[in-house]
Amino acid sequence: MVHENKFREELVATAAAIVAKGKGILAADESTGTIGKRFDPIGVQNNEDNRRAYRELLFTAGPDLGKYVGGCILYEETLFQKAANGKPFTDVLKENGVVIGIKVDKGVVPLSGTNGETTTQGLDDLAQRCQKYYDAGARFAKWRCVLKIGANEPSNLSMLENANVLARYASICQANGLVPIVEPEILMDGDHSLERAVEATSLVLAYVYKALADHKVFLEGTLLKPNMVTPGVDCKKTYSAAEIGHATVTALRRGVPPAVPGITFLSGGQSEENATLHLNAINQVPGPKPWALTFSYGRALQASTIKAWAGKTENVKAAQDVLLARAKANSEACQGIYKGDAAGAAGAGESLYVKSYVY
Ligand SMILES: *[C@@H]1O[C@H](CO)[C@@H](O)[C@H](O)[C@H]1NC(C)=O
Ligand SMILES: *[C@@H]1O[C@H](CO)[C@@H](O)[C@H](O)[C@H]1NC(C)=O
Repeated sequence: MVHENKFREELVATAAAIVAKGKGILAADESTGTIGKRFDPIGVQNNEDNRRAYRELLFTAGPDLGKYVGGCILYEETLFQKAANGKPFTDVLKENGVVIGIKVDKGVVPLSGTNGETTTQGLDDLAQRCQKYYDAGARFAKWRCVLKIGANEPSNLSMLENANVLARYASICQANGLVPIVEPEILMDGDHSLERAVEATSLVLAYVYKALADHKVFLEGTLLKPNMVTPGVDCKKTYSAAEIGHATVTALRRGVPPAVPGITFLSGGQSEENATLHLNAINQVPGPKPWALTFSYGRALQASTIKAWAGKTENVKAAQDVLLARAKANSEACQGIYKGDAAGAAGAGESLYVKSYVY
């Protein structure tokens, strides 16, 4: 039996627009708690108007934003906010050719029966919320699951459970016209080698694509948001960007069907510059790469921008220039043509690693 979905063509077109040549995703979907952690170091109070002002800075960075960014993921509050001049943010983004995305999961919770592993909640009213978000202009969604590498992790239970919940989420999104970004993030916590990370990532991806097949998810209308394959943050051995690129493409070749149009990496705890260099290295790996390989960065696109802003109106333009420089560097990296010219920017080399990152 063929499963009909009236949105099929639209889902394919949406995914293609997001990962068009030279484009990736700006992940600006920090929850209210998480954006507070970004505001704390610059002394900005975490209230609705400051959150709105900061997001306005991002979305009005200039027409060039749409050259580098094909999609932007929002938190629910932001989807319904307006720029200071009264124009809805959704219109501001659409005018720049940026497809609107929405974070739809409701956060990570402990998974009983495991040694500190987690699953992600938020399925209960998901269909209704997807309809509401579609009506508000959203065309894609994000749901983050988190796995970790340990002596016995990721456990079979956590791989099975997280793959299944991602598949349920993906199928509900597609029934309501939203392209699901499937995000099984393996954290960089631990002292494991690059080889161990290849093995874990390939296996997690195999579980994910088995579950998506079981749930009859239309792969051509999905995007994958995986971790890059890197050694554990406490691994003693160092690896080159080329080795990380090769390891990442190896795991993806083993685990991701060519029907998937695009892979939009998360930056995790990598510094801004490393997230760019590693994306560039991934795109330079020789041999078949049947998907767009691009970015879906939160911290790695915003860390320097937020510092440059520091909550001051007079800094808005300078902060927007920092954002555009970073976005341009990643636009080059997703084509494998980044020359390293954004490396000198203030803060670009700083580690953004946070232990057992939750948000
Ligand atoms: C996980 O499942 C595989 C295959 O069914 C099995 O060989 C392995 O022992 C299981 N691992 C654990 C830790 O249960
Ligand atoms: C950047 O990546 C390289 C490997 O390409 C690694 O050796 C280095 O520790 C990383 N730096 C930071 C700040 O994460």
